Amino acid sequence: MTTMTAEATVPAVCLDSVTRTYGDVRALDGVSWAFPRGGFTAVMGPSGSGKSTFLHCASGLDRPSGGTVQIGGVDVGRLSEARRTRLRRERIGFVFQSFNLVPSMDVEQNIMLPLVLGGRGADPAWLDEVVRRVGLSDRLRHRPSELSGGQQQRAAIARALITRPEVVFADEPTGALDPSTARDVLRLLREAADLTGQTVVLVTHDPVAAAWADSVLFLSRGRIVDELTAPTPAAVMARWGSL
Ligand SMILES: Nc1ncnc2c1ncn2[C@@H]1O[C@H](COP(=O)(O)OP(=O)(O)O)[C@@H](O)[C@H]1O
Ligand SMILES: [Mg+2]
Repeated sequence: MTTMTAEATVPAVCLDSVTRTYGDVRALDGVSWAFPRGGFTAVMGPSGSGKSTFLHCASGLDRPSGGTVQIGGVDVGRLSEARRTRLRRERIGFVFQSFNLVPSMDVEQNIMLPLVLGGRGADPAWLDEVVRRVGLSDRLRHRPSELSGGQQQRAAIARALITRPEVVFADEPTGALDPSTARDVLRLLREAADLTGQTVVLVTHDPVAAAWADSVLFLSRGRIVDELTAPTPAAVMARWGSL
């Protein structure tokens, strides 16, 4: 049973009329959306439709050219660079398609990196739990080059979860993975929402991956053009085809 508190009614992330231009390219063209806490949302759209820009703005990695982004009620655009970095470090986990692991560090060091950078200590029980969830307990002393692509992506997810972020953003995290490994990664993201109440935002162009979410947003030319709730792969494909 959950108790509604004032805190719970503030969306995890809220975008209001967000634009992002690069020269004369409008990568985001007036996007407004509120991501509910503990929800799992997929974002789909053709290549170049603004998915990565959307994720970068929503996560505070990038500043919009116009409009506002609030993370947990905090207006990211009003923060100094240093405070924005701190907010991101404390509240956000980010999983990149290309893993972005540090080659010279072993798996445990890579996973611990955000805590070390934030000057925070480890909670050994939570490290154990995260490592167990991603199935890398017997790989902690391996370097990334000694892991498969799926293992590297699972290490990257563990690194995103270790700070217990309120929101986990993942930009095509299964793009480079075979279907069975992709399923492991999607299950982890689903568990982040279901077991620990984290908010998950997943960019993907795979309808099967999108169907793991509670809701799918469709982007086209920098705008949200549609939403599909309780998605199935067939429904996602049908909606995709009609865009
Ligand atoms: N750093 C950048 N400099 C210039 N143009 C960019 C930059 N990043 C993205 N764009 C442009 O913005 C648009 C949206 O890009 P992006 O968000 O990467 O789309 P997606 O992730 O959906 O493929 C594209 O036209 C892309 O070329
Ligand atoms: Mg992209």
